[in-house]
Amino acid sequence: MPGPEVNSVLRAVRDARRLLVITGAGVSAQSGVPTFRDPNGWWKTHRPEDLATQAAFDKDPAEVWRWYELRRDIIHRAEPNAAHRALARAEATGARVAIVTQNVDDLHERAGSGEILHVHGSIWQLKCVVDGSIYEDRQVPLPEIPPRCPRGHIARPNVVWWGEGLDPEITARAGCLVNEPFDVLLVVGTEATFEYIRQWALRAKARGALLVEVNPRVTSLTPDVDHRIAGEAGEALDALLPG
Ligand code: APR
Repeated sequence: MPGPEVNSVLRAVRDARRLLVITGAGVSAQSGVPTFRDPNGWWKTHRPEDLATQAAFDKDPAEVWRWYELRRDIIHRAEPNAAHRALARAEATGARVAIVTQNVDDLHERAGSGEILHVHGSIWQLKCVVDGSIYEDRQVPLPEIPPRCPRGHIARPNVVWWGEGLDPEITARAGCLVNEPFDVLLVVGTEATFEYIRQWALRAKARGALLVEVNPRVTSLTPDVDHRIAGEAGEALDALLPG
């Protein structure tokens, strides 16, 4: 049976009226969307330098787009899993559930969550390489590779590539969020590879949020969390969250 500490954590999460959630690829893993650094993740079979950098795109835009087309197809066919649904259900009870996601899929939206900040962009958005205008195109497959914006210029995926900084407006919005008084911060399915993810989590904790990590594996954030749930996001969030 879980000890008193675990029971108090479970109660704190269940009773939370203001939940901040930081998600990574692990929250979509049970929907069949590959992660990046897991043993069977994208970066175990592909080099990010070949697929997720401006230099790779400049060298061979079609090759980069073939990878994004594969990911778009996988995400198009994926369904939200129990983790996405549990977060949406918790919001439906009237609690505030603010999600900061590193994922470029739309599974949180499709599960019904209403407050989502995509810090790495969206796989359904494209950006004109000439004027930087952003538009959405959900066609699977795309009619041509590389796709062209409405003015006929080549378009790139509107996602953050290696070596690129975050959109300053996104950084500002995340910075404001983590400075709000949340009851609990759930960090779900991320290695917390990027320093800004760690800093956001530590800032929210410093502002009083109970920092709970949900991940089958230990991560770089684990030493700083208040409690770690060593399990898969679907089962853990289904059991943890109200609604
Ligand atoms: N439930 C919870 N966590 C899981 C599950 C699961 N079912 N399956 C895997 N995980 C965990 C792994 O243990 C790992 O810690 O999800 C994490 C996935 O880590 P990464 O693959 O590194 O994904 P992420 O942390 O989201 O990467 C961040 O890096 O490559 C860039 O832009 C890419 O957004 C991505 C960013």
